[in-house]
Amino acid sequence: MGRQAAFYGFSVEIEGEKMKKISIGLIGLGNIGTGVVKLLQQNEKLIEQKLGAKLVLKKIADINITSPRGIKISKSILTTNAREILNDPEISIVIELMGGYEPARTFVLEAVKNGKHVVTANKAMLATYGNEIFPAAQKKSVDIGFEASVGGTIPIIKTLKESLVANKINSIIGIMNGTCNFILTKMTDEAKSFDVVLKEAQQLGFAEADPTFDIEGIDTSHKMAIVLSLAYGKKVNLKDIYLEGITKISGEDIAFAKELGYRIKLLAIGRLRGDAVEARIHPTMISSGHLLANVNRNYNAFHLVGDASGPVFLFGQGAGMMPTASAVFSDILDSARNVMKGIAGRVPLRSINETGMKDIKLIPMDNIETKYYFRFSVLDRPGVLSKISGILGEHNISLASVIQKAQEEAGPVPIVMTTYKAKEKDVRQALKKIDKLEVVRDKTVLIRIEDEL
Ligand code: HSE
Repeated sequence: MGRQAAFYGFSVEIEGEKMKKISIGLIGLGNIGTGVVKLLQQNEKLIEQKLGAKLVLKKIADINITSPRGIKISKSILTTNAREILNDPEISIVIELMGGYEPARTFVLEAVKNGKHVVTANKAMLATYGNEIFPAAQKKSVDIGFEASVGGTIPIIKTLKESLVANKINSIIGIMNGTCNFILTKMTDEAKSFDVVLKEAQQLGFAEADPTFDIEGIDTSHKMAIVLSLAYGKKVNLKDIYLEGITKISGEDIAFAKELGYRIKLLAIGRLRGDAVEARIHPTMISSGHLLANVNRNYNAFHLVGDASGPVFLFGQGAGMMPTASAVFSDILDSARNVMKGIAGRVPLRSINETGMKDIKLIPMDNIETKYYFRFSVLDRPGVLSKISGILGEHNISLASVIQKAQEEAGPVPIVMTTYKAKEKDVRQALKKIDKLEVVRDKTVLIRIEDEL
């Protein structure tokens, strides 16, 4: 007979003939949920060896348990009632992969209340209700694992919570949405239109159910809120993160960006400025030689700079069934190991103890300073350029380059200007004046340029 150990309320045999068992329950058998079942089946032995215990998927709940998922699942473990998992005393880890705000939030809170560890990929829920869920979990001494909520397979959560724990994070810049990155890549490299490429992304299955969440940057803002709270150990209010999506990016701007030596990416930029943090998400021109400019298709990446570590670059698939399932398992095994040791809370859920979490001080967008690209749509007449540059000068905006190409047909022509660093507030005021000029025929396009990467 082997040693005995207290193990989730009952005794298990260690070093005995029988392998210890840890029961888990899955809520949500969609794309990622199916990937989790598939990965457990595919790498069962390997997972057992690494864990030193057997993971038993005791129950799977979904509103639809009849559609084929392309994998073998015993009917006896399927249920349409999530409470069969939440109230099962043998299940110690609940995996929430149903997505959406409700009933996901209610289920997670119930799991926590019942003393179960939770693993989730639900960034929208965590970004919105994290300030309710995390303190509740700390109070009950259970884990909330959320590696799969940001960057798909990329271990960004663990990197921030554990690997770079002793660093001040000077900056964290990410490409966090595969759909946007796929669209921008295809628009750049294949000169395809926005709508055509969005359809392709949806067919490939990495767009959200509502693609507005992707293309308007909402999905990125959810991920950014999570990442910032870990990087700075503070609560982040979603609405305070400046947000612009990619719907206004045109082929014309992509072509001008190329000519200027840039590629356009939807970047989430977090930067420490004294005791405050700059947090903004918008299409950004970055030098075509930078690592982030070469993260293409549906790939995600994070470029972090710690005060001790210096630059760290993480790259991988930010979405998809198996890459995301891989991240889910990283959390399942973390919690399973805690279950086996009878411990929890070794690593604080959001980097520091919940009781020490304060609101983060975010810098208002008006006070941000960066470089800019403008595309003016103007009538080709004498004096237009000087009028525009005059207004820019009056607002302390200094020009770095100007492109104007002769056009044979009548009608508006594009004038492209790039600037040195200027203040966002000055830029907005200047563009407001410029857009009122009689010679300006369309709203000026503004894209920020980042050289400080
Ligand atoms: N819709 C997301 C993306 C999926 O395109 O990156 C993963 O969060």
